[in-house]
Amino acid sequence: MLTRIDHVGIAVTDLDAAIERYTATFGLRLVATETNADQGVREAMLALGEVTSIGADDAAAPSYVQLLEPLASDTPVGRFLARRGEGLHHVGYAVTDINAALESLAAQGVQLIDAQPRHGSLGASIAFVHPRDLFGVLTELVQAARG
Ligand code: CO
Repeated sequence: MLTRIDHVGIAVTDLDAAIERYTATFGLRLVATETNADQGVREAMLALGEVTSIGADDAAAPSYVQLLEPLASDTPVGRFLARRGEGLHHVGYAVTDINAALESLAAQGVQLIDAQPRHGSLGASIAFVHPRDLFGVLTELVQAARG
């Protein structure tokens, strides 16, 4: 079901400072920044390694660091920052068929946050799975946009 780690999501208070740190320190490449009002965040996707096929759904697709700055304190990431401070927020795993993955998880009694996929970064379809059944890790399924 899970084919690779697509990205790790990191909650930050200052997106621009975090972008500067991750690009300058590790040489990651800033691929996109966008505001996602639905999720209440301003975010950046930074690619690891060579970027040959952004958004492609194959083994050569890059992994990303996703930096998340809340748009307001009363958003999921804003509440996360208030409760736990900056740090690892979620792990995003690539899947080839997000609807099939959600059906399988639901059938196994795993608590879903998103019963239906929604729009994510870089045109992907994404869905979050509740950390309660996954040992405290907020988990995101990512079906990349067709490249
Ligand atoms: Co994510």
